[in-house]
Amino acid sequence: MSLLQTTDLVKQFGGLTAVDGVSLSIERGTVQAIIGPNGAGKTTFINCVSGLLDPTSGSVQFNGDDITGQDPHEIVQQGISKSFQTASIFPRMSVAENVQIAAFGAEHGSFRFNFLKRRESYDAVQETTERMLRSVDLWDDRNIQAQNLPYGDKRRLEIAIALASEPELLFMDEPTAGMSPEETRQTVDLIENLQEELGLTIVLVEHDMEVIFRVSDKIAVLHRGSIIANAAPEEIRGDEQVQEAYLGGAEI
Ligand SMILES: Nc1ncnc2c1ncn2[C@@H]1O[C@H](COP(=O)(O)OP(=O)(O)O)[C@@H](O)[C@H]1O
Ligand SMILES: [Mg+2]
Repeated sequence: MSLLQTTDLVKQFGGLTAVDGVSLSIERGTVQAIIGPNGAGKTTFINCVSGLLDPTSGSVQFNGDDITGQDPHEIVQQGISKSFQTASIFPRMSVAENVQIAAFGAEHGSFRFNFLKRRESYDAVQETTERMLRSVDLWDDRNIQAQNLPYGDKRRLEIAIALASEPELLFMDEPTAGMSPEETRQTVDLIENLQEELGLTIVLVEHDMEVIFRVSDKIAVLHRGSIIANAAPEEIRGDEQVQEAYLGGAEI
């Protein structure tokens, strides 16, 4: 059974069909890339699965359960998380506090002010925080104020925040955007670690083709809201339809 399965997923904005009948099946423990030109519907697709948008029609199944149209916090509880852009970071709090808050929220579904008094959940939160900060290599920086981190480290902190709910599936929407080549290399290593060490299933939207071809098990190509190909990297590389629609005939 696939971990995530969308069936005929459609999202319309007025007259525009941003996601046009996407049926995608994602196997547990794999890295599934979604590529396609700007405006192809990649982010809208992710938002429909993670609950930020209600699909117009179609369904989303996760672990065999129908989660179509559930609220984002319900979907997080089921084990799907999304790495947000810098908006999710509290800049004046420390690196560790940022992850603690997310871990506590995930454990209880909502934030409670007396959480430090609850010894058991405090210990669980500390344990999760350490594990996730280590997995993104930010444990040594745990006491730094988040706003003082370099850009690439901030992006890794966002990933740790997304991991704090201990998801089975993680969406990453353009994780290397704005990164230096060195930061991009670290992100590639991180994606490989998350898959291998945490057994995470990752859905990766990314423009950097080197990154895509290095880490993906399968690459889906989205074109005007529809999937025109979904296959292993070697196969995508040689697909003429993909070359024309997406790469304008350029070599990849
Ligand atoms: N909230 C919205 N309201 C109206 N149109 C939207 C909204 N979000 C996205 N769109 C449109 O849907 C299409 C797909 O956008 P998006 O999913 O962001 O593409 P991608 O992430 O592949 O670049 C685009 O034409 C975009 O302008
Ligand atoms: Mg996008």
